[in-house]
Amino acid sequence: MKIDNKLSELPLTKSKPSTLESLFGKTDIEPFWVADMEFEIAKPIQEALVQRISNSSFGYEYKPNSFSNAQKNWYQRNYGIELNTDHLIYSPSITTTIAVLLENFSSEHNGIMIQTPVFMEFRDVIRNTKRRIVKNALRLSSNQYQIDFQDLQEKAKLENNRILIICNPHNPVGRVWTNEELKQIVRICKENDLLLISDEIHKDIILFDNQFTSAVKFIEDYEKIIVCTSEAKTFNLCGISDSMAIIPNEDIRNSISGTLKKYNLGRTNALTRVALEAAYNNGGSWLNEVIKTIENNIGSIEKELANTKIKLIKPEGTYQVWLDFRNVFKDTKEMFNHVTEKSGIGLNAGHWFGREGALFMRMNIATSNEKVTDAIRRIKKTVSNRVSLEEP
Ligand SMILES: Cc1ncc(COP(=O)(O)O)c(C=O)c1O
Repeated sequence: MKIDNKLSELPLTKSKPSTLESLFGKTDIEPFWVADMEFEIAKPIQEALVQRISNSSFGYEYKPNSFSNAQKNWYQRNYGIELNTDHLIYSPSITTTIAVLLENFSSEHNGIMIQTPVFMEFRDVIRNTKRRIVKNALRLSSNQYQIDFQDLQEKAKLENNRILIICNPHNPVGRVWTNEELKQIVRICKENDLLLISDEIHKDIILFDNQFTSAVKFIEDYEKIIVCTSEAKTFNLCGISDSMAIIPNEDIRNSISGTLKKYNLGRTNALTRVALEAAYNNGGSWLNEVIKTIENNIGSIEKELANTKIKLIKPEGTYQVWLDFRNVFKDTKEMFNHVTEKSGIGLNAGHWFGREGALFMRMNIATSNEKVTDAIRRIKKTVSNRVSLEEP
């Protein structure tokens, strides 16, 4: 995959000096933390954007049928799912949709369940809407994260808990939930009348022999399922992306679109529209290359970390790896400061995703093999002379 060699010309969040200073305590950091790619975007997307810009009129636009059809065909081709385009709702971001869902389908102080360690904005949106975070923490067993179904069942029964948000594939631990696991989740939600929000933004980055199952598949069994997704992660379009939600239940759909309308959040962006159509219609072979590159990067990390005290939790999906430092450090602050200071590599501290992530770190590997290998060697070197701790 080709790296975009003009990245340093862009005001990217991941290398914003004031952000680096506040997170890492210094600005000379090589950023491997924000989940976006360093690859050049797919040629068909670039060409479509250039062509659209050459038609330099930018009046108000609507989303033509070709837009939702591109999404429909993508789901059909890749997942064998027949989307009903009448069920699609668009909003500026997934987090916007989740905030609106929380506001419209729960009350202040209701419990919203999340499976920690998990994407930190779930926590932020729950707090910002004055709901309560209820953790159904994942369990790590034999180097793979599992859902604690007994805990989920018990918490789902509590009257105050109204919504479960899942992340599939799971950011940051990289699990791709199986059909069987999703079936159990849906059953528990149905038995307890919980709204199920499935965030599937990472759905297209499925690695090795794993298989993605969308929660859309269970909508015939249970209507109170909402799937949120976008093309942002898949095609490296975070800077121009919007998001879509698949909402088969008419009442839920009307409620959400009513609120989006109230705040005028439905405006179409001409460039987003063009990029998304080109991506879903013609971006498939580029994506296959990305997946191969990510798998190769994981292979290199496995090799580098073999016989070291840092353990790799091998991802089944996403372009992030979750690194286990529990054999090296006892204190999460010490881990973060030591690795950051000595390697100069900017990773996400695991506890940013909830305290269950303490003594882990997340690394974005959507870049060249050379850069990933160099970064992991530098990280490895920082811990090589530390005394091994006992297995926790
Ligand atoms: C699981 C998950 N959901 C949502 C997002 C962000 O999506 P949006 O910008 O549309 O809110 C991210 C970004 O990293 C993510 O990992």
